[in-house]
Amino acid sequence: MRLTVIGTGYLGATHAACMAELGHEVIGVDVDADKIAALGAGRVPFHEPGLGELLRRHLDSGRLRFTTSYEEAGAFGEVHFVCVGTPQSRRSDAADLRYVDAAFAAIARHAEPGALLVGKSTVPVGTARRLADAHPVDVAWNPEFLREGFAVQDTLRPDRLVFGVESARAEELLREVYAPVLGAGTPLVTADFPTAELVKTAANAFLATKISFINAMAEVCEVAGGDVSVLAEAIGHDDRIGPKFLRAGVGFGGGCLPKDIRAFAHRAEELGAPLAFLREVDAINMRRRERVVELARELCGGPGRSVMGARIAVLGAAFKPDSDDIRDSPALNVAARLQLDGADVTVYDPEAMDNARKAFPLLGYALSAREALHRADVVLHLTEWAEFRALDPAQVRHWVSRPRIVDGRGALDPAAWAASGWDFRGLGRPPGGEGKR
Ligand code: UGA
Repeated sequence: MRLTVIGTGYLGATHAACMAELGHEVIGVDVDADKIAALGAGRVPFHEPGLGELLRRHLDSGRLRFTTSYEEAGAFGEVHFVCVGTPQSRRSDAADLRYVDAAFAAIARHAEPGALLVGKSTVPVGTARRLADAHPVDVAWNPEFLREGFAVQDTLRPDRLVFGVESARAEELLREVYAPVLGAGTPLVTADFPTAELVKTAANAFLATKISFINAMAEVCEVAGGDVSVLAEAIGHDDRIGPKFLRAGVGFGGGCLPKDIRAFAHRAEELGAPLAFLREVDAINMRRRERVVELARELCGGPGRSVMGARIAVLGAAFKPDSDDIRDSPALNVAARLQLDGADVTVYDPEAMDNARKAFPLLGYALSAREALHRADVVLHLTEWAEFRALDPAQVRHWVSRPRIVDGRGALDPAAWAASGWDFRGLGRPPGGEGKR
């Protein structure tokens, strides 16, 4: 089939390359000429394992190309996927729909009669109906569930496909697009517009709630003297609960969960069905960042627990490992707060240094974990890259000025670090790892 993908960020660039991999002819469209030039030259402008190879393979095969021209895209495509961003609005928690609205208007103007416009962006419920009413084209909504770091595999082998459709023809076209994926046995759920839109926001709300639930348990463990990692392991054995997304720590960040739960709560309030608990999920998440700052203060232990002049090493800048995305990153949020309080903060991340430097130019940066840790008074482990998990506490002890560490990701072994003489603090865990007997 001839497809276009409008918006070539994480979602769109991945979708375009994966659709070519499925055998379609694809044009990727973006208003950002630099991005289009980079992708057209085979360069992915962000870190996503496997995507570069796929992109170059299909530039070479001739099935994939990129343009800034809606006219060209409109004349080419039978199905147009809209994958533009829906960031948080500046003045409220609502999603900012200006890019979705502009993309739909532009492609609707140039689309051939009979073309199908498919929204993939995460939008407030009601958007698909509004767009279908505003433009004389066939519309469908096909939310995506890909995770950064696993974007290619999540697109080619998703857990499920969701088609929000109002006509048999729209469903037929989408079945044809995804024929190889459906042929591999992927479950398909077809739904009306509002349900398809809600599936996406509900899924992210559930994931955020699961993380904040375990982080709330961490808060209780901290005052009751329990160990949240042992608690999570024990409740995770119940397959109704499951072990995934139960890692307590400094909380969730990124370009999706934080803004999606805010936009969902905002939309639900507008509709008169408020989701008050999502406000608390957000609050718990933000409190965990505060807690890491507090622990750093405690460990620095200056007069009035001041961090003034303390050398603080921050391991991690990306919002999660295997990504260079720093949007709403808990690690950088904590680093910036401590620096504002007068600490001398040095950050190291294996992939996200360039993005971090651009967004937080005043923080200190090191070129390796060793350099960041050099003569540190306190170490904060805030993004659980494999490289950090593999650090040897006995060796690393010689690099720092004082052996004190906060594990903000529940990923280090407290007993091993304590045994090497470190003052080890975890979130929701007793110092030294005595939670497990
Ligand atoms: C998330 C969802 O997982 C995807 O299904 C969804 O498609 C995507 O948002 C989106 O809406 O586009 P992503 O933002 O890539 O994907 O990241 P996750 O892997 O979900 O992690 C989110 C945050 O939660 C990270 O900061 C991570 O460190 C944190 N997290 C995750 C925890 O603190 N504890 C956990 O147990 C798991």
